[in-house]
Amino acid sequence: MSLYYDLVPTGIPGLDEALGGGLIRGGRTYLISGETGTGKTLLSLSFLINGIYKYGEPGIYVSVDETYDQLMNGVRRFGWDLEALREQGYLEVLIPEMDIIEKIREKDPITIARSLVYTIADYAKSLEAQRLVIDPIAPLVTLEKDVQVLREYIRALVMGIEREVGVTTIITTEIPTGGQGNLEIWS
Ligand SMILES: Nc1ncnc2c1ncn2[C@@H]1O[C@H](COP(=O)(O)OP(=O)(O)O)[C@@H](O)[C@H]1O
Ligand SMILES: [Mg+2]
Repeated sequence: MSLYYDLVPTGIPGLDEALGGGLIRGGRTYLISGETGTGKTLLSLSFLINGIYKYGEPGIYVSVDETYDQLMNGVRRFGWDLEALREQGYLEVLIPEMDIIEKIREKDPITIARSLVYTIADYAKSLEAQRLVIDPIAPLVTLEKDVQVLREYIRALVMGIEREVGVTTIITTEIPTGGQGNLEIWS
């Protein structure tokens, strides 16, 4: 794999070896799924923090589940000062407000996907980000019940991010208790 692709090391011991060196650089999206408490947030944040400290690559973290304070306090015990990294221009933390999430659910799914993509792309450009995490994706997905429309939405979001943001992206998703966690390639 590493013979053909430019790879982005996660910097996580064991994972890079298992991946043959890392994740594929550029507009690629990886989905990490698992039950609550299986380490999705810790893994995806490690990917960003290692990117900054070990490889000098700025990153963006879209925190959908936690408030800014919850996130900052949660990671302090690992010795991570996200606030400092933000001030130094290495990291952007985007926290969609609840009212935006509510609005998202009312609008046309493709319009929403587009607006999310362009917002993230703007931040990515100004930061020269090379890594992006959306943790988790579910609240950003409409309550649309029509599977066809839902597929179109996710497709527009993922393809839009790959095209317009063009960075290595990790998206996380919760799976119901009793399922099996894994790491898989979306595209
Ligand atoms: N590799 C790990 N080693 C030790 N503790 C971990 C590891 N991954 C996660 N944890 C701990 O497990 C808890 C849940 O992790 P978290 O990343 O928030 O899970 P998720 O996002 O999947 O719900 C946290 O308290 C975290 O510190
Ligand atoms: Mg989490």
